[in-house]
Amino acid sequence: MNTVIIGTGYVGLTTGVALAYVGHDVTAVDIDPSIVDRLSRGEATIHEPGLEELLHLAQDRLTFTTELPDLSGETVVVIAVGTPPKENGDADMAYVDVAARQIAERIQPGANLVVVNKSTVPIGSARHVEGIVRRTLRERGVEATVAVASNPEFLAEGRAVRDSLYPDRIVVGSDDEAAVEVLRRLYAPLLEQAFEPPPGVPRPDRMPLPPLITTTATSAELTKYAANSFLATKISFINEFAGLAERVGADVTQVARAIGLDDRIGTRFLHAGIGWGGSCFGKDTRAILATAEGYDFPMPVVQAAVDVNYQQRVRIVEKLQEHLKVLRGTTIGILGLAFKGDTDDLRDAPALTLIEVLQERGAQVRVHDPVAMDNAQALEPPLDVTYATDPLDLADGCDAIVVATDWDVYRQLPLDDVAAAMRGRVLVDARNLLDPDAVRARQLRYVGVGR
Ligand code: UDX
Repeated sequence: MNTVIIGTGYVGLTTGVALAYVGHDVTAVDIDPSIVDRLSRGEATIHEPGLEELLHLAQDRLTFTTELPDLSGETVVVIAVGTPPKENGDADMAYVDVAARQIAERIQPGANLVVVNKSTVPIGSARHVEGIVRRTLRERGVEATVAVASNPEFLAEGRAVRDSLYPDRIVVGSDDEAAVEVLRRLYAPLLEQAFEPPPGVPRPDRMPLPPLITTTATSAELTKYAANSFLATKISFINEFAGLAERVGADVTQVARAIGLDDRIGTRFLHAGIGWGGSCFGKDTRAILATAEGYDFPMPVVQAAVDVNYQQRVRIVEKLQEHLKVLRGTTIGILGLAFKGDTDDLRDAPALTLIEVLQERGAQVRVHDPVAMDNAQALEPPLDVTYATDPLDLADGCDAIVVATDWDVYRQLPLDDVAAAMRGRVLVDARNLLDPDAVRARQLRYVGVGR
């Protein structure tokens, strides 16, 4: 099926490459010529396990371009541009609006088009996009069949290829039955899992076939916010219990495991730590709170998840304060900058809050990340930190070290050498990643979260 994707960020690129891999002809459009250039050469522009390999496997069916092509015949156009937060938390629709107008300008007479909103957009956006397309078509005097559907994505960074190829479910929201049928055909290879898994990203064992959930456009739009708000709340919930566990002398990792095995609760997203970050949870919780405010409807549960999350970051600094007493003049090493392991993404990364608060309190900061260092060095304004070449270099002269990102490589820290290189003895495991006994065996003081 002829498919055009507008925007080659995490969502657009992964979706485009996955759809091409399962057999569709995909044209992916981005305004940035250097991104288009790199992708055309087969180079992945984001750090995502398995993506570059899939790009190569699917390259015959993939075209990257800066120019939206003419849209004729039966075509699915997926809008996957950014919707950054505005000052009040609302999602900014400026790029979506531009994409909708460009689509309408390219539609050829007689075309049969399904426009898909994949970007996370405010409630009512499907109708909004449809309005823009129809008005522009009228102005141009072009007759074509156009339907708009909301089709939220649930892919998580670091496992985006896997989530795209092996989704739990696919949600399509539209009042137009014909559009739903077109999307059912687009997603048929995923719904039926009728493709050979790529070598690097095997199909999960005993994976059930993902259902296609069809809803109204509004329900699909709300589903995305509800999913992310729920996951964010689940993490804040366990972080709140981590705080209490520290006071009563319990181990939150044991509590999480014990409650998680109740299948009504589930073990995932119960990992206590420094709190959530990334491009979605913070943005989407703020956006849904702004939407709710517009309807004069308070959402205290979501609000509490946001508040607890910020406090969780500050608590890590308080732990350092508690053990080092005076932070001014100390050197603190931060292991991990990315908002979570397996990504180079720094958006709303807890480590950045840590750096900011530590510097406010007069500490010097050394940092290391196995993948996100280039992105960190490109930040504006620049971070006033020392970049270490590896964890051992980071440890040099540190009064304390904080593990801020759950990178696998940090699980195997060379603890003997790290302990020898440090000036102080405090190791704050803000991700509960390390074995406390192994740390203590090196005469380091182990400080976890809720354990
Ligand atoms: C999330 C959603 O999972 C995905 O479905 C949606 O489409 C986009 O937002 P992402 O932001 O990539 O994906 O990462 P995710 O794995 O969900 O983690 C979000 C944050 O929560 C990270 O900072 C992570 O470290 C943190 N986290 C996650 C925890 O602190 N504890 C957990 O148990 C799980």
